[in-house]
Amino acid sequence: MDRILVTGGAGFIGSNFVHHLVATTDTRVTVLDKLTYAASRESLAALPPERVELVVGDICDAPLVDRLVGEHDAVVHYAAESHNDNSLADPTPFVQTNLVGTFTILEAVRRHGTRLHHISTDEVYGDLELDDSERFTEATAYNPSSPYSATKAGSDHLVRAWVRSFGVQATLSNCSNNYGPWQHIEKFIPRQITNVIDGIRPRLYGSGENVRDWIHADDHSSAVWTILTKGEIGQTYLVGADGEKNNLEVVQLILTQMGRPADAFDHVTDRAGHDLRYAIDSTKLRTELGWRPTYGDFESGLERTIAWYREHEDWWRPHKDAVEAKYAAQGQ
Ligand code: NAD
Ligand code: TYD
Repeated sequence: MDRILVTGGAGFIGSNFVHHLVATTDTRVTVLDKLTYAASRESLAALPPERVELVVGDICDAPLVDRLVGEHDAVVHYAAESHNDNSLADPTPFVQTNLVGTFTILEAVRRHGTRLHHISTDEVYGDLELDDSERFTEATAYNPSSPYSATKAGSDHLVRAWVRSFGVQATLSNCSNNYGPWQHIEKFIPRQITNVIDGIRPRLYGSGENVRDWIHADDHSSAVWTILTKGEIGQTYLVGADGEKNNLEVVQLILTQMGRPADAFDHVTDRAGHDLRYAIDSTKLRTELGWRPTYGDFESGLERTIAWYREHEDWWRPHKDAVEAKYAAQGQ
């Protein structure tokens, strides 16, 4: 693969994957990104221009997508509207980007016969009970709860249908919650880290019992490269690093690692339809393709992430007031 097109490559996880490609392969990368509020040119700024080109554009722009897909050997499709709370406030861009955008990419890879890897989320499976020992597998039935997860589920179904009906050369992956550098401060972990830096008490939705299965974004990137290069066409692989923690535990860890009392947080209005628990069984990816996560320990990954947000205040500071004003208007 000499040339790879990465959609959404200026976002949190997409930019991590572009860094991974530059560090570990010889491939040239084109990023197609609309540069929404969630994107950041800075996340790509340190990369050599002869290896990485940024095209600012929309994945729903069919002529642009068709031209770019025709110039590349593979497409890795990250671009999406990605935040559940935003999808509850206004689902419109979620339907447009996550469904129409994925359809636009599928039609282009179908015309050109280009390899596609589609990035998705474990949230397409809905949620698990808190006291259940079950985890999601590739055989779990789809049961999305929010407009975000429903549009991601729809995009997965489109990819599977294009594989089956038109022979599109695609693989899919559904990953658990990512953390690490460059994550937008609207998301749980960076919101609480930057709150503590600002002397604001962290905000826990509802009881805080909800469980998320955390994986470092670097481990997600190595999994995607493994699937892109070794995965079987038409297959779905679940990506996870056995990182189950409830939100209360995460907030307490952030507080203690940042030198504050573990109870210095507030409970706020719960999210509508809040999924209880996500948990991934990634046996298929590990046994069939030999992938392993390298961040075994969430606590040390979190410590490094806190240090990163302390060192990159210039990056997040301009957005902090607007993010907190939006949450305050929702009682969160
Ligand atoms: P993000 O919101 O940080 O980044 C999304 C990127 O897509 C942004 O750079 C944005 O500008 C771009 N984009 C949005 N609409 C676009 C459009 N119409 N055309 C072109 N570009 C557009 O999201 P993220 O957290 O990095 O997530 C990336 C992907 O990974 C998504 O598909 C998401 O569903 C999936 N995922 C995320 C997580 C997570 O924990 N964040 C977990 C599993 C899967
Ligand atoms: P989030 O980062 O939005 O990811 P997702 O909705 O994809 O899981 O939220 C992670 C968890 O943290 C989720 O259970 C909601 C909760 N949460 C809070 O308790 N407080 C917050 O301020 C935010 C943003 C999220």
